[in-house]
Amino acid sequence: MKHLLSAADLDLATSLDILNLAVEMQGVNSRDVKKLPALTGRTVANLFFEDSTRTRISFEIAAKRLSADVVNFTAKGSSVSKGESLKDTILTLEAMGIEALIVRHHHSGAVNTIANASWSNATVINAGDGTHQHPTQALTDALTMRQAIKGKDDLGSLAGVKVLIVGDILHSRVARSNIDLLKTLGAYVGLAVPSTLLPSSATQMADVIYHNLDEALLDGFDVVMMLRMQMERMNSVFVPNANEYSTLWGLSAERFSNLSSNTLIMHPGPMNRGLEISSEAADSPQSAIVDQVRNGVAVRMAVLFKLLAQESSAK
Ligand code: CP
Repeated sequence: MKHLLSAADLDLATSLDILNLAVEMQGVNSRDVKKLPALTGRTVANLFFEDSTRTRISFEIAAKRLSADVVNFTAKGSSVSKGESLKDTILTLEAMGIEALIVRHHHSGAVNTIANASWSNATVINAGDGTHQHPTQALTDALTMRQAIKGKDDLGSLAGVKVLIVGDILHSRVARSNIDLLKTLGAYVGLAVPSTLLPSSATQMADVIYHNLDEALLDGFDVVMMLRMQMERMNSVFVPNANEYSTLWGLSAERFSNLSSNTLIMHPGPMNRGLEISSEAADSPQSAIVDQVRNGVAVRMAVLFKLLAQESSAK
């Protein structure tokens, strides 16, 4: 495995291998000296053509904890503003000795273009491409669910775990990646979604689809994952207005208070508090939102370790 482009490319054995490597990385992250020498002398670039807080910073921390040299590239402030192409940007970085590209791009498929190009030799990791995929977020979410529901010592699948994903599925690379990985791990996946925000691909993958959030919440899901309304990707009007969306599809304080105290609340971030999720839900003891961010570092260490240390030494 040279690249990580899509959660759909991960079979059960590979998914569990990465999740269980991430558990080992959690051990490293709990030590006083949070450092492994695995990637000493290797150079990776964080190549972000779109904004990010969690993914960019956690990849940077992850690479540094594995002793890699890290270059942070953002399109803003680079020669992209002078018209430099994606190809020429990457040729430039690779000429300077960069071996791995962690790429976020607004264009769905940009990461596949780089990984398949004859002009690039780098390992490519998808840090979110358009509305397509965000595989390390799905791995982070799966680890968070497994540890919260099955316990820290569990190294198995998510068979029997019921996960409800709520909101803007159409524009969400997180939802697409989560559905792919959750199905591989054996989870039962429900979607609660306005019909205007439901892509046909998700319809084929999900176990159940609801067009009413209150009906969905009655069905005893172990996990309720709220999604952000991705206004920046909408080129049309998909919901009447933000207030109506919040009333019909938001995890309000009242809806949250009616859930079982065992229901795990998740959100990949960034959150729009008061729109898709209330502060009562987001800040409750049932919320795993901060754990999702924390686990992102361990998962990204595991992915970098697997692709750059294990796989390259196996050649
Ligand atoms: N979840 C996620 O991708 O967050 P960022 O956009 O902050 O990286």
